[in-house]
Amino acid sequence: MDFQSLQIMPEILKNLKRTGYTEPTPIQQKAIPQVLQKRDLFGCAQTGTGKTAAFAVPILQRLAQAPVSGHPIRALVLTPTRELAIQNYDNFRLYGKGLPLNCCVIYGGVSQNAQVQQLKKGAEILLATPGRLNDLIGQGYIDLSHLEIFVLDEADRMLDMGFIRDVKRVIAQLPAQRQNLMFSATLPKEIRSLVDSILQDPIEISVTPPSTTVDAIAQEVCYVDKNNKGKLLIWALKDPRISSALVFTRTKHGADRVVRDLTRAGITAAAIHGNKSQNARQAALTKFRCHQVRVLVATDIAARGIDIPDISHVFNFDIPEVPETYVHRIGRTARAGSSGTAISFCSIDEKADFKQIEKLIRKKVPEIKEHPYPMQNLVPMSKEERQKKQVKRRAAAQAARNRRMEKAPAQKHSAPKKPEKHTAHQNVHKNGAKGKASAGIDAAKKQNFPKASVPAAKKHSRPVEKSRVPVPKESAHRQVRRDLMKYLPKPLRSRPADQPLKHHL
Ligand SMILES: Nc1ncnc2c1ncn2[C@@H]1O[C@H](COP(=O)(O)OP(=O)(O)OP(=O)(O)O)[C@@H](O)[C@H]1O
Ligand SMILES: [Mg+2]
Repeated sequence: MDFQSLQIMPEILKNLKRTGYTEPTPIQQKAIPQVLQKRDLFGCAQTGTGKTAAFAVPILQRLAQAPVSGHPIRALVLTPTRELAIQNYDNFRLYGKGLPLNCCVIYGGVSQNAQVQQLKKGAEILLATPGRLNDLIGQGYIDLSHLEIFVLDEADRMLDMGFIRDVKRVIAQLPAQRQNLMFSATLPKEIRSLVDSILQDPIEISVTPPSTTVDAIAQEVCYVDKNNKGKLLIWALKDPRISSALVFTRTKHGADRVVRDLTRAGITAAAIHGNKSQNARQAALTKFRCHQVRVLVATDIAARGIDIPDISHVFNFDIPEVPETYVHRIGRTARAGSSGTAISFCSIDEKADFKQIEKLIRKKVPEIKEHPYPMQNLVPMSKEERQKKQVKRRAAAQAARNRRMEKAPAQKHSAPKKPEKHTAHQNVHKNGAKGKASAGIDAAKKQNFPKASVPAAKKHSRPVEKSRVPVPKESAHRQVRRDLMKYLPKPLRSRPADQPLKHHL
């Protein structure tokens, strides 16, 4: 089958040909006709099999064939990460080159000004992460009342605990009459009912069973003690066949630590995680794409959707706790029909998680037995030990947060900017974020969402958004007082703030 037989319009056909696509992938063959027929759809296909074009191509065609004046937002694609929003934006522009349609991408972590300017010019297709989208809706810069197509890329991630509130707030802004599309490589049972509550009379397309991994990925596991994982990684990277490796760690600090160790060992590496600025994240990704660094060390922000063609190896430095995450992580290799290798480093305490992964993917992952750091510790941690460790880890994380806050440069709190004037199609929402939020709740209720998960008006901002508020620097005097506090007897610690400390010493 070729793209022509899917009734794709000539302009898009030309773009696909220029991109090097000769025939549609199975998910594209099945999804494109359904999307063109305006059906709601859940599309499930393995990682790297072209789900993006499966929705982008028919969306571009639908919108281009029924033009509307004034550039209102007609299609919205939500993604869990900023990098994925940017990547989808690039893909829409690639497939839609020459069409009279504007695309716009909005995401957090950077100034909103350029994005607002872009929105003001008008865009039929909006690619967004939910936090920034809700922010700009609250400020009156975005009107979704003309929306025709709503897409959740990485749908199961968008509907899990981390995003569901934001997504529901967005849905509450959308017209009831619309086409809903969802795509992912995994579909956990727990989100099934949520999916059903959003899609209307959907077609379900499953090219392969959900959560299966691409056969072209050679999967292997090394059983190793936790404290030897760094050395094992350096040993593994001595293999010259590893041209480009993506290493996943569980924590941001873990990622930084791995980069430090690799750099010391003379291996070029960069890190991408949530503590880095958006510019640093993009820079690390670009360096890795251009082969300026051989290794990219990432937390799970890079696990979903990111498409870098030449990754030869994925390493799970830590085993993910959520089995689906494994499927997405290793899916960063062997994309678009190529092959790749995924090697997991599993310590005794992660064995149970790895078993769950094998159960999900319905495969037994072969063990690499011949390596210089075989597992010595064969006794898993007791429940109490695990809890103690967790408490310690949380305290360390809190301490690190505090240190960051102390380091943060003092910034003046400037008055919030007034929304600027809007073009004709941009509906100016006069009620603030709070008013919008309550409107959102009403609409969410109307759409029969489960009651318990309707967000409270005050809890809307996600922690990511909060971190954008400048943190005033603590004065030296206050800092000294806080440090001395721990030497005071407990009742005295809550003395009135205006009483000098010496009275109590
Ligand atoms: N018809 C096609 N022919 C050749 N290559 C294609 C085709 N469609 C998509 N690709 C390429 O396949 C790669 C993977 O595509 P895409 O990122 O859409 O996969 P995906 O299914 O969304 O994966 P993931 O589940 O990881 O998000 C991309 O590099 C894309 O350019
Ligand atoms: Mg994708």
